[in-house]
Amino acid sequence: MKSKLLVINGPNLNRLGKRDNSLYGSLSLKDIEAGLHESFPRTELTFFQSNHEGALIDRIQEAAEDGTRGIVINPGAYGHTSIALRDAFLDVGLPFIEVHISNVYKREEFRRKSLLSDIASGVIVGLGPAGYETAVTALNRLLRQQDN
Ligand code: DQA
Repeated sequence: MKSKLLVINGPNLNRLGKRDNSLYGSLSLKDIEAGLHESFPRTELTFFQSNHEGALIDRIQEAAEDGTRGIVINPGAYGHTSIALRDAFLDVGLPFIEVHISNVYKREEFRRKSLLSDIASGVIVGLGPAGYETAVTALNRLLRQQDN
């Protein structure tokens, strides 16, 4: 059976490819999503992006009901600020991996804090768009281990 994973991108990540290329690279979100589809033909991947905190929470809650087994999320700036996003993950209890394209530890002090990292299965930071692939690989492995 294909494992069903959800890849969520938070605020401003719809601007990838246009937004500061030196930090985030030149690939658009569509390019990244298409690359993931190609790299993981045996994983059922669904994608969601929103600039709105509540919409992200709605989608996480939905994932608990629609057969999703795990989530990869780049929460954007909400990772640094959103108790509500943290509560949604605590509530649904799905394993998730937090991704940041840029190395947040090389940037402003306020980006070093994440309200998600301590409840995530793993955190991938600073690997560029390749971080999403690493996250899907890791989540698939984790779910396989859980099944055995
Ligand atoms: C980001 C890092 C965040 O600090 C920032 O607010 C983003 C993108 C990243 O992918 O590097 O929007 O999550």
